[in-house]
Amino acid sequence: MKLLYRLMIAFFTVIITLMAVLSLAFINVTNETMYRNTWNQLKTYSDSLVQDAIRYDTVNRKFRGFENQALLSNAALLSNQHVHFAVFDVNQKQTFASNGFTPQISKSDWKKLSKGKTIYLRITRPQINVHNSDHSAMTEVIRPYFYRKKLIAVVSIATFVSVVEENMHQLKINLAVAFLIATLVALIISYIMARSITGRIDRLRVATRQVSKGNYQVKVPVNGKDEMDDLARSFNQMTTALRESDQEIRRQEERRRKFLADAAHEMRTPLTTINGLLEGLQYDAIPEEDRKHSLELMRNDTQRLIRLVNDNLDYEKIRTNQISMERKLFDCSAVLTNLKEQFAKRAGEKGDEIQLDVPEGLLVYADYDRFVQIMFNIIQNAIQFTDNGLIKVTARKVKHGCEFKISDNGIGMTDEQLKNIWERFYKADQSRSNSQYGESGLGLSIVHELVTLHGGKISVKSQPKKGTTFTLFFPDQHNAPHLNVQ
Ligand SMILES: Nc1ncnc2c1ncn2[C@@H]1O[C@H](COP(=O)(O)OP(=O)(O)OP(=O)(O)O)[C@@H](O)[C@H]1O
Ligand SMILES: [Mg+2]
Repeated sequence: MKLLYRLMIAFFTVIITLMAVLSLAFINVTNETMYRNTWNQLKTYSDSLVQDAIRYDTVNRKFRGFENQALLSNAALLSNQHVHFAVFDVNQKQTFASNGFTPQISKSDWKKLSKGKTIYLRITRPQINVHNSDHSAMTEVIRPYFYRKKLIAVVSIATFVSVVEENMHQLKINLAVAFLIATLVALIISYIMARSITGRIDRLRVATRQVSKGNYQVKVPVNGKDEMDDLARSFNQMTTALRESDQEIRRQEERRRKFLADAAHEMRTPLTTINGLLEGLQYDAIPEEDRKHSLELMRNDTQRLIRLVNDNLDYEKIRTNQISMERKLFDCSAVLTNLKEQFAKRAGEKGDEIQLDVPEGLLVYADYDRFVQIMFNIIQNAIQFTDNGLIKVTARKVKHGCEFKISDNGIGMTDEQLKNIWERFYKADQSRSNSQYGESGLGLSIVHELVTLHGGKISVKSQPKKGTTFTLFFPDQHNAPHLNVQ
């Protein structure tokens, strides 16, 4: 069965049961009240007729009896109201009956009466010959009367139940009409309530279908705080997560594609050169005196290819935590002085001056070879992109580690170029390719991975034509991360 109908039935049942219970309670209370009112009225009639008809011997202070004439006139008056009564003496003998009203009083009732208790009977069938048999069911009050603490008489007074029931009947009809209207309203309300729930489920269903088709942009509205809203909220969180992972997958795919294209592109140039030279050698197209030079060129290019492959392998290893790092404390001023000497020739060729400002004996906590590799790459870049300029290398102890700054006043980079320098194969100036020094755009991506692996930080500031400054931070022993090398 559809959820809508199930919910409707549930709501409808609840509403109708509630209505039925309330109506029954109402009928009961009203019925009770009506009988109670009738009994009270009968009691009042009985008291006033006794007062009207009773006669005493005032001298002897004795009860003489009831005056028949007074009883008759009361009987006539009351019968207009469909009320009838009978009078009994102390000996349980009926002494008067209005309109042939002959009620029976049981022994146990007499006992109660003699103790002064009034007896109320909801429905009795006393014999009466004034009305037709349809009206014979009566409700009755039997009341004892005392004079000087002695029971002198008992009056049984009754009226037809139909008189009471007539009022009840009208009430029941009204209630039935109300019940019918309530049923209709209950149906409408239960439909609206069920519809509002299934409507929200439907919205989720439609959205789920959209997601299964690959549309992760869908959002279901969340307005309140109930369970359905929680579900909708979770659904939205799920689509957001799916959207993000989908974007990540696309990004990764794009990077993979770009990497393959870049790697192929990088390899094509040296391979084409080598192929060309080999062809030349094969067909003796290269003069004898140039052969040596050709072989040298080929060697350069194969070295470049080897370096390219090695660098890529290196990068992957660092990225996947597959390199072993032996960190220790060592004097970085010695390392940097060494590097300065190594680069002296190349810097001289470009008219650059390298200035070192490193405190003697400054200790850094890092893997020695990797530290050299990092500094080598950055200084190499600085020389590479600076003509007749100044390259400053400074180092100092800072809180929790060491800070290095390598600045040059070379060609610099635009903000757009800066954004990409950590990417593999990125070269700000694509036209430039120096096979002697490599320039495959891998250096900084490796540097970045290595610094991160040390738990350090690297940042760069640059302005075109003004220069570039790289700032590096290496944490000390206490702040370096615990390495988990695979
Ligand atoms: N000091 C610098 N001044 C200006 N541009 C720089 C500087 N350092 C790096 N760059 C730019 O960032 C790019 C990426 O540098 P990276 O070291 O990764 O590659 P590369 O030097 O071109 O090649 P590789 O280092 O792999 O031989 C460079 O091509 C260059 O455009
Ligand atoms: Mg480089």
